[in-house]
Amino acid sequence: MQVQEAMIMLEERKLMSETLNHLIEQAKSTLDANWLGQSTKPSPHLYPHQWNWDSGFIAIGYARYDQNRAQQELSSLFSAQWANGMLPQIVFNPDALGSYFPEPDFWQAERSPNYPPGALTSGITMPPLHAMAALRVMQYATDGNAAREWLQDLYPRLVALHEYFYRDRDPQREGLVYIRHPWESGLDNSPTWDAPLKAMKIDKDKLPPYQRKDLKKGIPKSQRPSDEDYDRYVYLVDLFRRLDYDEQAIYRECPFLIQDPLLNSILCKANEDLIEIGQALGEDTGQIQDWYDQTSRALREKLWHKRHGAFDVFDLYKGEPIGTLTAAGFMPLLCGAPTSEEAPIMCAFLDSHAYCTRKGTSQDQRCFSIPNYNLVEGSELDTSHYWRGPVWINTNWLLLQGLRRYGIKGKADSVRADIIKLVESCGFHEYFDPYEGFGYGTDNFSWSAALFLDVALEQEEGIHELPG
Ligand code: SER
Repeated sequence: MQVQEAMIMLEERKLMSETLNHLIEQAKSTLDANWLGQSTKPSPHLYPHQWNWDSGFIAIGYARYDQNRAQQELSSLFSAQWANGMLPQIVFNPDALGSYFPEPDFWQAERSPNYPPGALTSGITMPPLHAMAALRVMQYATDGNAAREWLQDLYPRLVALHEYFYRDRDPQREGLVYIRHPWESGLDNSPTWDAPLKAMKIDKDKLPPYQRKDLKKGIPKSQRPSDEDYDRYVYLVDLFRRLDYDEQAIYRECPFLIQDPLLNSILCKANEDLIEIGQALGEDTGQIQDWYDQTSRALREKLWHKRHGAFDVFDLYKGEPIGTLTAAGFMPLLCGAPTSEEAPIMCAFLDSHAYCTRKGTSQDQRCFSIPNYNLVEGSELDTSHYWRGPVWINTNWLLLQGLRRYGIKGKADSVRADIIKLVESCGFHEYFDPYEGFGYGTDNFSWSAALFLDVALEQEEGIHELPG
């Protein structure tokens, strides 16, 4: 190599490293600004409380540089765990009540005998990625003794959470658990829920009165779930509270019971990580291994959709598959459920125009991976509309782990590069346009910062490993 070329390469590398370092510091400041003292709110205004899976992703970021905060983030969430093991979707901040809907007065979750005394929570749950986060805290811990002591306290709570899913959300003992509200999926208005929500017969006059507050925070209405969706979200909350959050009664009466590959893959992967934590603590992990085996098998046997080349979603209420076209269908890569024949089919599909692949550098060829919805066949595609088309950093981070697990290095590297590029060009937005890269939704979004930190630090470690 010519001396001049080598100098340019070194200079470029220095620049990359400087830009990354600057963004890493910005990511930390974003998390600092959203830190509430014991937990982190997802964003300054739109989401003023503590959210379940947000905290998991946020702890994954903290695990990289602040063990104490990572531990506090998860401990504060688990301090609001219900007696039946359910970990609530939201733990409300008593100092911030009044600017979000629905809040504790609407949920009336205290009607449940399982409600945790002294906490303020919603009455549904979310994808249980907390064992994945806890394992990362263990792996990156700078104080091993403190981590061990913390894990000894958290471990039985994590087991109780997984037990809740298998006991109360898998009535037919299939190894697949169901969600009973779109908010439980984490992908609130995914087009996958359109059909089951539309099929719900609701009498608008009988809905309890409510007022959306999310539309008063400066986010365009076109980027948020519709009023029709909210009516159905509210209908379901009202049903749960009328049934005193009794899981068996809800199973009998709820018209929205869905086996979703995203939540089940996260649960399956979390079982695997919980086994690793349990073994480090000298615990018997036989039951957790059984859960892992059941779920990975059931994903393959019940949800693999040969014609689509991805995993499907099953409507348990109607007793039929939904035929999803969202990126959730690739999530089983995360837990190793796809066979060695299925994984390459999925990867080829994921690496097609349907889910954005940058085959060139010019503007019209540019596309950021991986949008949440099929860009070619998705009839409801809207690239600026919440879970109906944009790219989300959390689902990309999960898919990145899945691609790595199967050794699909090229695609994994491009997903990581796109996470960094999106943040570099638009900041820590909530979601991004796959073509334009615009940032949408709220800004200073905690999991965008936390997961950016994780991949940027990895990238930086890689940069320093390059031969000089
Ligand atoms: N994501 C939901 C909201 O928009 C709640 O989980 O409020």
